[in-house]
Formats: sequence, C-alpha cells, structure tokens
Amino acid sequence: MKPVLIKDWLFYFIMDNRPIGIFDSGVGGLTVANAIRQILPGENLIYFGDTSHLPYGDKSPETIQHYSAGITKFLLEQDCKIIVIACNSASANAFETVKGMTGNKAPVLNVIDPVVEYVTKYNEYKHIGVIGTKSTINSNTYADKIHCKDKGYIVSSMATTLFVPMIEEGFIYDDISNAIIRTYLSRHELNGINCLILGCTHYPIIKNQINKFYNFEIDIIDSSKIVANALRELLDKNNLLSGKNESVEHKFFVSDITPAFKIISKMFFEEDVDLKLQNIWD
Ligand code: DGL
Repeated sequence: MKPVLIKDWLFYFIMDNRPIGIFDSGVGGLTVANAIRQILPGENLIYFGDTSHLPYGDKSPETIQHYSAGITKFLLEQDCKIIVIACNSASANAFETVKGMTGNKAPVLNVIDPVVEYVTKYNEYKHIGVIGTKSTINSNTYADKIHCKDKGYIVSSMATTLFVPMIEEGFIYDDISNAIIRTYLSRHELNGINCLILGCTHYPIIKNQINKFYNFEIDIIDSSKIVANALRELLDKNNLLSGKNESVEHKFFVSDITPAFKIISKMFFEEDVDLKLQNIWD
C-alpha cells in the first residue's frame, strides 16, 4: 500500500492499485468480473479462465484443488492484492486450498459465503432451492453453510448438469434451452421453494428464462452483484481499495483458446474481451 501525494500536497490518499485476481474454470466467472467492474470501476482486474480443464463441475475435489492451486500461484505472481474465486465448483471444493496458499499475502473471497449471508440475513426465505454443477451440489457446501446460520431452513439442492454445456453451446433463448430449463426445474426436488440460488456463475446468463419459468413469483438469487458488493466491503476493511485510478486496466488469460470462447466471453462480460493464452502448468 503506497501513500500518494495528490495535487497541491495537501492530502494523502491511501490507494492500492494492484490488481484484483479473479478465476473460474472458464468464462462463466466473467459474470462476476462484469459486476465487479461496475461496482468498483477504479479497480484493475486480472481474470484467469481455466478453459483447458473446463468443466470443473464433473471433476473430483482433489483435481479442482490442484487446478485452483496452480491458478492461485499465477495470480499471486501477478501481484494480485486479493483473490476472488468466481466459480462455485472451486469455491465449494478448493477455498481452503487457496486460502492456505495466500496466507496473509492476499485475502480470498469465494462466491458462496456472500450468497449465504444474503439469503439468511432477513430470515425471509424458509425453503431455499440451490442449483449448480455436480461438484458444487455433491459438496453440500450451500446447505451446510446455510444450516450453520440456522438449522430451521429447508434447503433443496439439485445438480443441473446440462446448463453449462447448453450455455456454452449458445442455446440460450430458444426451444432447446427452454425445454432443458423446464425439465430440470419441474422436478420434485425443487417443489415448494421460495427462492432459488443460482449456484453456478454461468447461470446468470439464463436468469430471465428461469424467472419466466417461475412467473417471477420467487426470488432468483444471482451471485454476481452480491459478490461484487462483498468484495467492496472486504477491500475496504483491509484498506485495499484502489482510490482514484485514471488508467484502469483489465487483463484476461485463459489456459486454452478457441474462437467459441472469444465469442461467448463477450456475452458474459458484455463487451469485447481480449483473451490471452497463458499455460501455467507446463
Ligand atoms: N462456472 C462454474 C461454476 O460456477 C461452472 C462451470 C464448470 O463446471 O466448470 O461452478
């Protein structure tokens, strides 16, 4: 953290313009990165999408921990001041691994804790639905964390395994996506829920259709803005906010690159993204 002398030497502002490190198994975490740049426009971002190992959703916890450790090492080498695990599968299975590596060099934020805080804050939801990848749902992390707050919540979790490949294949507002969404969400596992957590950073892309399925009658909890707000609080608490930053720079790295990633990354980040190939395992 450097004190910087501003204008006429009257004021010192504490600012830390080191980048925020964000990672996901692929481009889904760009939904979180997008919310972060909107809520924290002065922050520099370094995004890593592990596209060569995508999807994490069907990997074992050990494999997800191994990949997350490699990415964390890379982000720390880039001098990131904080690490955001913008992937539910990695948040559920590798949070302790990442924290163990960063120690007191950089705080770590996962995407699950801020959502659990949010849904349990006002005690207004009694029956909470959670959808995500197999590795997130099998970890039971959402239900465990929600029950740590209050055992009275009913939590119904369901893996919606086809959602990620469906989104990555571009099936979003069509008959195929509508059929897949309707088939999963009609299952008895989710009967009676009064809110639904989108426990995968890909899912905000299909939030509208999920809302339509429920006729906008239940709250659909999308983690991106919740996580970006939690990040702002965490940066503030640790005196890590960037302050005034007139040369904001975002860098995007992926471990494998295809034209498809380039196209869908725009959909997740809502503007052109210059993806750079970075192999961190060789
Ligand atoms: N975006 C990842 C998540 O939030 C899912 C994609 C994958 O399976 O790798 O879990």
